[in-house]
Amino acid sequence: MSFDLQRPLPGAGFGGVLRCPDRPDAHGLAAAAEAEPGALPDALAQCSGLLLLPGMQMMTEAPALMVRLSRIFGSEVEDYRHTLTPLNMVHPSVPEIFVVANRPPASRPPPRRPEPAFNADGSLPVQFPHRRGWHTDQSYRRPPPDISLFLAVQPVPRGQGQTLFADGTAAYAALPPPLKARVDALEGLHVGASARRGRDAVLAGETPRPLGPHERPQRQPAARVHPVTGRRALYLCEYGQMDWVEGPFVGMQPGPHGDGAALLAELVAHLTQKQFVYVHEWTPGDLIVWDNRCLVHAATWFDAEHESRVMWRTTVSGNPGAAYAGEQKSWLAT
Ligand SMILES: [Fe+2]
Repeated sequence: MSFDLQRPLPGAGFGGVLRCPDRPDAHGLAAAAEAEPGALPDALAQCSGLLLLPGMQMMTEAPALMVRLSRIFGSEVEDYRHTLTPLNMVHPSVPEIFVVANRPPASRPPPRRPEPAFNADGSLPVQFPHRRGWHTDQSYRRPPPDISLFLAVQPVPRGQGQTLFADGTAAYAALPPPLKARVDALEGLHVGASARRGRDAVLAGETPRPLGPHERPQRQPAARVHPVTGRRALYLCEYGQMDWVEGPFVGMQPGPHGDGAALLAELVAHLTQKQFVYVHEWTPGDLIVWDNRCLVHAATWFDAEHESRVMWRTTVSGNPGAAYAGEQKSWLAT
């Protein structure tokens, strides 16, 4: 074994830190991962879907290395030129890299600060609905992606711009049995923000616009069976990435004031309790690998007027599980 795995992540009940002591830089780690192709995916599964790989700064000079490492985690690394992604969000020479940055050309603003910004004990709020923005990447697609890799090219100082992760497997296991049985039979309706069917748009009284076949809401199991571990995990988003017109749950009273909304609020508040959450403060060169099939995450506020933040993401697909077998890609539907 060329790798050293320490788990869980500091202050959390899940996740792990993975290093390659003999070859600690990004080039060495990618080569070692290719020589033992099962090692990193196994480590990810052992750590409930969250791995921190520190010291990957070399990738910022050699971005193709990030794509090489991504291929270890699945058969398909998304090429953002072919998926209707605005090109100002795509790396200019490596189209598998999605750029999350607050400066041009990406110009993505940070999330809002929660109100109040801190808990009474000075800690960072993590639990919904005090903390908003919890989601799993691209859950509005069928099949949804498996894994995201996120590299801190230029993070903001500690204390802002953190990424929060919540362990959907542990949260599902901790549900009271009657609620677990209810969730097992539920499907959520997920939709992208650009469809304008999120909670805020519905509460503002916006008239839903006609949607193309590629952007229609997609059903997803609320408790998803992980195709590698066989374990169930809560698979939910909240205000911005569920369909608040016909959802958030199939077969329940729809809309922000319905039974579905009440159940979603209960479940997301359960999932984002402190004991299921890890708060990551970014250091340049940190690479985090997360499994969208069993974790949700949220971004936090940073001072975008005074700070520049640049993060790179890749998205890996190819093993969504038997429930999606043989499906066409919903987001490319015509
Ligand atoms: Fe995300």
